[in-house]
Amino acid sequence: MTMHYGGDYNPEQWPEAVWYDDVRLMREAGVTMVSLGIFAWSRIQPAEGVFDWEWLDTVIDLLHEGGIAVDLATATASPPPWATTAYPQMLPQDENGATYWPGSRQQFAPSSPEYRRLAAELVTALAERYAKHPAVVMWHVNNEYGCHLNYDYSDNAAVAFRAWLAAKYETIDALNDAWGTDFWSQRYTSFEQIVPPRKAPYSRNPAGELDFKRFTSDTLLELFLMEKRIIRAAGATQPVTTNFMGAFPPADYWRWAREMDVITDDNYPDPNDPESFRASAFARDLMRSLKPETPWILMEQATNALNWRPTNAPKAPGQMAALSMQAIARGADGIMFFQWRQSRAGSEKFHSAMLPQAGTRTRTWREVVDFGAELAALPELPVGARDAHVAIVLDWQNWWALENPDHPAVLDYLALVQRWYAAIHRQHVQVDIVQPTSDLTGYGVVIAPQLYLLTSDAAANLIAFAESGGHLLVTAFSDIVDENDAFRDGGYLTQLGRTLGIWLEDFGALVVPGGDGPGQSAAPFDLVGTTVTGTLLAEEIHLDGAAALGRFVGGRLDGRPAFTVNPVGAGRAYYLATIPDDEGCAAVAAAIFAAADIHPVAFGLPDTVEAIRRGDAVTLINHGTHTVTLPDGATLEPFGYVMLRDGE
Ligand code: GAL
Repeated sequence: MTMHYGGDYNPEQWPEAVWYDDVRLMREAGVTMVSLGIFAWSRIQPAEGVFDWEWLDTVIDLLHEGGIAVDLATATASPPPWATTAYPQMLPQDENGATYWPGSRQQFAPSSPEYRRLAAELVTALAERYAKHPAVVMWHVNNEYGCHLNYDYSDNAAVAFRAWLAAKYETIDALNDAWGTDFWSQRYTSFEQIVPPRKAPYSRNPAGELDFKRFTSDTLLELFLMEKRIIRAAGATQPVTTNFMGAFPPADYWRWAREMDVITDDNYPDPNDPESFRASAFARDLMRSLKPETPWILMEQATNALNWRPTNAPKAPGQMAALSMQAIARGADGIMFFQWRQSRAGSEKFHSAMLPQAGTRTRTWREVVDFGAELAALPELPVGARDAHVAIVLDWQNWWALENPDHPAVLDYLALVQRWYAAIHRQHVQVDIVQPTSDLTGYGVVIAPQLYLLTSDAAANLIAFAESGGHLLVTAFSDIVDENDAFRDGGYLTQLGRTLGIWLEDFGALVVPGGDGPGQSAAPFDLVGTTVTGTLLAEEIHLDGAAALGRFVGGRLDGRPAFTVNPVGAGRAYYLATIPDDEGCAAVAAAIFAAADIHPVAFGLPDTVEAIRRGDAVTLINHGTHTVTLPDGATLEPFGYVMLRDGE
């Protein structure tokens, strides 16, 4: 196993003399691999049909001589000005029909035939030239698909969306049925009448919105697969990847992960936010979970400050290493940065890099060199597998459906999933992220927050989990609609109701906590001697076999069940008729963990310390700004960490 260390390398921004210095300094820093040429299209191909290989040959050979491997980019993320000038119809558009013009990056409509043809020509030429080059150990397709430009509404998108719909529904009547188009006179008589969800006078058809998001994720993936096929056709055998962005809404990474040879991910937590390490931990757990048993790579992070937030705080001394260890502890076999050498011009010149503009006298450089040496000395680590006994469900289809407007309350799915995650992370309990149809064997507890859209396969899987001895927690606003965002016959919770032993009458929206409007904003309920605060919804449920573990206290549902449990088969199915706040999630999770015999990775740790198991390696990391004392009397300084092996 190689622990990769390095970053994006953009030598085209520098004269050749600098490249020699780069390789020398990369060796000093312990760099093993660079992601080369991610935005180099205009330099590789200065005109249609014309390729300039000389500089790239030189750089790749130089790196190879220096013992540095290449993750070779396909450079398709930023089409050059000659391309967008010759084929302006490849430019994307927003929902108002306004064009995204060149001058930045990612100025391409994913469905554009011209973009696809030009990208294919570039990748074919690159792959044929470098497929067998001994320096190339990985292929980096495009960059952060969907970033900046989440959705394209251009005519190219319209044509492709219609074709996607025709393939899915076959007949326009099937689409009309699925979309419920008799509402507001939306019935179509031909696929040609359908447009992407562009600006409309009022709320658009929710099933159409949902299909457009599915289409977008599929279309971006189609681009990746096009490039991957070209790379393989050229005889390249190295792993092919594209960099993910944590839990990124427009791309269903469960679907994408199947096509990745190795998962790679980018991470930019805000150093100003003392809690940002928890969301970062969540994203890293997601990456491991997307392809269990396969090491993944942290493809991008900053060594120090960013350039793109309103204020870009530096990372504290040691924080870069701590966040890197957070990834390694969760199964990463590579720590990479954006970027190797800080740019001297352009939008990102204030973005930190491994080699700062201020040179090698800097703290950043010292930390980069030190961490490189540390990684090189790291012992062989087991592949991150199934070390967690708790799983949290994250489902993109449901996310997209929840994003539709016109619900009882606005629910931020990712924030609510992360609320559960953070509450459990504080208890030092290890978590996998799963999709509702994942194999749930081996988990003791599965938490499924707000599974509003629940397919029959997913429902059957969750029910089977509980019946076979698992503890399943379903929370408010779940099992409401089918895959077309339409109600099922028979009310709500039509699939899970029997397992949960309840039925749901109404949603009982609350005023947003902290909002200034009148109305009830909190729905407290009692739970074994404590009071849990429910937010956003206080549902009116009825016991139909389940027992109430907690009842609402005060407010319009005073005395009605809030938290229930139903024994099913060998397991238990819990239902929460509200959405607890941070402390509430912690209390509910703790109660279920006690019943399910779930234990933390390590006991007695302070809140700012996280504990993660990777096979026989347990890593403790202090993300706080104070030195902490561990239960064995050892101390961890701010951003200090320790990796212990079982039996040590
Ligand atoms: C990423 C991107 C990099 C760089 C970085 C800056 O989203 O992939 O190219 O722009 O952000 O933080």
